[in-house]
Amino acid sequence: MRYSVLSGGKRIRPMLTYASCAALGSALEYADASAASVEIIHAYSLIHDDLPAMDDDPLRRGQPTCHIVFGEAMAILAGDALQALAFEVLTTDLLKRHIPLNHGYLALQTLAQACGPHGMAGGQALDLAHVGKSMDAAALQHMHAMKTGALIRASVLLGAHAALCIDDRLLDHLDRYAQIVGLAFQIRDDIIDIEGSTEIIGKQQGADIARNKPTYPSVLGLEQARHKAQLLREEALSILERIGLKDSALAHIACYAVDRES
Ligand code: IPE
Ligand code: IPE
Ligand code: MG
Ligand code: MG
Ligand code: MG
Repeated sequence: MRYSVLSGGKRIRPMLTYASCAALGSALEYADASAASVEIIHAYSLIHDDLPAMDDDPLRRGQPTCHIVFGEAMAILAGDALQALAFEVLTTDLLKRHIPLNHGYLALQTLAQACGPHGMAGGQALDLAHVGKSMDAAALQHMHAMKTGALIRASVLLGAHAALCIDDRLLDHLDRYAQIVGLAFQIRDDIIDIEGSTEIIGKQQGADIARNKPTYPSVLGLEQARHKAQLLREEALSILERIGLKDSALAHIACYAVDRES
């Protein structure tokens, strides 16, 4: 568990949680537990994603993957335990800070929905079910929204819940921003799997093509995929402009999601 959580990574999900909490005028420390919980869920999802039965990847963040070091059984259990730990961390903080029940339950529901059948795990199932099969653009977008977008969406919404936001209009805009950034983030991941180098991305370059994975470049082509990511970045920025947050860290993260090299 420590090996996979503390091995670096870009930490974009907790950054989004902090950025959204700060954008709503709250102190960053209120978002600590939410930020930790989304990153812990993410670490669990990566351990399982790399397993031989899933993407069968030996390298992650420039190091051997969890199952290579500790064996498959321990890697499965590390993932299981991290998933529970994320909810323990979040719930313990909600109780300790006497967060009103409606905010607390909303936060827990947001995290649960993001990793369950309608979120990450469901999206991962779609991904694996379509290996070597054709997929149209709408189905691909739906799969990306679930497997990656859902947790990124939760990261932003948990930051807003940590700030005790009750402005539904603002929450709707942040929600839309987050869904767009989540999709853009996975499209960029698909692109750098092709264009990046193993050394820079810290994962085996070309793994998607080697495994016949359904990706944006494989369905739409590299140019269209790049174009789509850029359109999404502009859309995310225009949403932030509408709610007066175009100079916030959320704007920088939207650009980073699309321009990053690793
Ligand atoms: C990789 O996520 C898996 C995807 C959902 C695309 P990240 O690119 O955020 O991985 P780390 O945490 O920075 O290693
Ligand atoms: C992973 O997508 C999505 C997760 C829910 C972990 P990928 O399989 O493309 O992620 P990488 O490229 O292995 O990091
Ligand atoms: Mg995968
Ligand atoms: Mg993978
Ligand atoms: Mg990938």
